[in-house]
Amino acid sequence: MNKKIFAANWKMYLNSNESREFMLKVNANKDLFSEFDIMIFPSHTAISIVQDLAKEFDNIKIGMQDCDVLTSGAVTGSNSITSHKVDSCIVGHSERRTIFNENDELIKKKLNNCLDKIGSAILCVGETLDEKEEKKTFEVIKKQLSILPDQIRGKNLDIAYEPVWAIGTGLVASKQYIEDVLSYINNLIKELYSVEDRPNIRLFYGGSVDENSVEELSSIALLDGFLIGSASADFEKFKNMLNKMR
Ligand code: 13P
Repeated sequence: MNKKIFAANWKMYLNSNESREFMLKVNANKDLFSEFDIMIFPSHTAISIVQDLAKEFDNIKIGMQDCDVLTSGAVTGSNSITSHKVDSCIVGHSERRTIFNENDELIKKKLNNCLDKIGSAILCVGETLDEKEEKKTFEVIKKQLSILPDQIRGKNLDIAYEPVWAIGTGLVASKQYIEDVLSYINNLIKELYSVEDRPNIRLFYGGSVDENSVEELSSIALLDGFLIGSASADFEKFKNMLNKMR
């Protein structure tokens, strides 16, 4: 079993002070937190604080939870992919799709900006409960992945399968279900890109991952990592997940 990447999407859970406190605890548990590839996506306001406190860790990458579709200009209150110096950026998260009405066309522009400007991005895809019940999961994912660029050579593209019905609900998709969807995504990727590109593409699962589910899901061969929301913003829960996977 290969070691999985732990990507922490802190959403709007931690303010700057709480992010700082979290990172101080990471530093106090340096041995444990050095053993894994970790990505942290703090609130925009906490990015530099977290970066500063992750300086001693080569294995911890810091990213943005989202970025504006533009790279600069008169956009009050927004942050572009060049506003902060980051390692990655999440685009197409279901909360952006629903709360902010983001569509595939907009997400495609954001994705291309991220790949152009920083050479890395996490694209989230996943079906709603209705779509799942109507057996439209593959159809939805195919459409959401239709925005992928023709070429990714040299860029890092992470695809996070996050079923909407599993996000923040405590419902984790079953291992078999995730395996089926990841193998569908894997086949689409194979059709789209050459074999040389495949190592630059990583597959994640997100949706109520915590210390109780992480072990079982880790045996999914196609899975490179987890994109974790609430359990990643709770230091003890994050620590417990890593301890389980040591
Ligand atoms: P939860 O882990 O809180 O369900 O959130 C998952 C998620 O949306 C990560 O991007």
